[in-house]
Amino acid sequence: MAEQEALAAGRTRVRSETRDLSWASGTEVCGLDLSRPQDLSDADVDAIMKLLAERGILLFRGRKISHAQHLDFTRRFGPLAKTGLLTRYAPPGFPDLFTVTNMKVDGVRSETWNAARQWHSDQSFLPVPARACLLRCEKVPTLGGDTMFANMYLAYDGLSAGLKKTLEGMSAFHCVFNTRATVLDGRKEFTPEEKAMAGGATHPVIRTHPLTGRKYLFVNEQDVDHFDGWTIKESAPLLDYLYAHLSQPAYTYRHKWQPDDVIMWDNQTMQHNALADYDLDNLDAPENHRLMFRSTLA
Ligand code: SIN
Repeated sequence: MAEQEALAAGRTRVRSETRDLSWASGTEVCGLDLSRPQDLSDADVDAIMKLLAERGILLFRGRKISHAQHLDFTRRFGPLAKTGLLTRYAPPGFPDLFTVTNMKVDGVRSETWNAARQWHSDQSFLPVPARACLLRCEKVPTLGGDTMFANMYLAYDGLSAGLKKTLEGMSAFHCVFNTRATVLDGRKEFTPEEKAMAGGATHPVIRTHPLTGRKYLFVNEQDVDHFDGWTIKESAPLLDYLYAHLSQPAYTYRHKWQPDDVIMWDNQTMQHNALADYDLDNLDAPENHRLMFRSTLA
């Protein structure tokens, strides 16, 4: 009973200062101090995870936090996952953070300058994809540099009963080295170590979120190669249909970043896409600099 009361109190506290960002997804959480995760009770943590599972994205605006505080806040929700394939882009001393930037690192343009340009769910190519991600913005272009998110509960709900039934028993093979990924311009060959880490994994096309019990669609343009038991050619038309369906405007939220924004997204039910919507021909101009740091929950 005491536990139930604590949970209810946590929910009331977390939700008392919130503002929805769009009909489809996203809620801004105004009151929490991200620099003091030790002040969050277990009930607060449960309430945040529940809200995240329902709304897909939580925005914390104007939070000036260090790399260490970013990681401490993330750890309050569970163990960290590996950051991704381009581990050399971790900021010095923080191997659990992934840097996404269009700036030069040691005089050379970061390979992450055009990362995440297709709809995807982080690390879906691993046997256990990331549970959630927290992306902190340090610099953003004056015009653009937005990230779009798409809600896979809504994408599932929007399918016909017939297609839901067909997809229910199907699985798809996810791999970063799929034929679709080769259309990404500027992507450098991965090293043998990175390829070994990428591996690939098969996941059901329809999954159920453990906290909400709601079904969601789990195929993405960046990493899905083919449906299990189908050829790439056979898979392509249905995958193309699903990609057009899941990214329709009604299911999306477009985030205009401000420095010191932190966005936490449920990586199971939300796909994201970093847009090429700014002056890519002038990356060295300070007004075009984009610098983000991501932590990942296992
Ligand atoms: C990511 O995919 O983790 C980065 C998204 C972004 O840069 O907006």
